[in-house]
Amino acid sequence: MSADITFTMIKPTAFKNNCTGKVLYKINEAGFKVVAMKITRLSKKEAMKFYEVHAGRPFYDELVNFMSSGPIVAAILEKENAVDAYRTLIGATNPAEAAEGTIRKECGTNIGENAVHGSDSDENAVIEASFFFSQIERF
Ligand code: GTP
Ligand code: MG
Repeated sequence: MSADITFTMIKPTAFKNNCTGKVLYKINEAGFKVVAMKITRLSKKEAMKFYEVHAGRPFYDELVNFMSSGPIVAAILEKENAVDAYRTLIGATNPAEAAEGTIRKECGTNIGENAVHGSDSDENAVIEASFFFSQIERF
């Protein structure tokens, strides 16, 4: 059986504010292995597809516009129980409610611009990782 993975993005504001180094440091410090990583930028159409599950929610347009507004870092992370472990590391969706020491607490701006994305299930982690990376981009 393959190891547990999760998928993350460093969102446009955090990337622009030079938070990438801090986020990657915390990821490594927490024992995740980075198995794939790149800087890229989502088109509006790609952001709509990635966040399809949220279509129809009041913040969907804002979310899609924001996520396609600038470069991001996309990465696949490996660790035992990766999805839950990473959601603990990033903290609550709203940075104002995120626990001390979490990535969103330290690097987030507001609920929309909350520094990072983290997969919410093993199934979605595989789908999201494959959205960004082919097999030969994974180490
Ligand atoms: P992700 O890891 O980015 O998926 O965040 P999450 O799983 O903690 O939250 P969720 O999947 O419910 O929402 C996806 C993203 O939509 C969040 O990360 C926010 O950026 C954005 N979002 C969620 N709720 C709101 C909201 O009430 N207002 C705005 N502006 N954005 C929201
Ligand atoms: Mg989510």
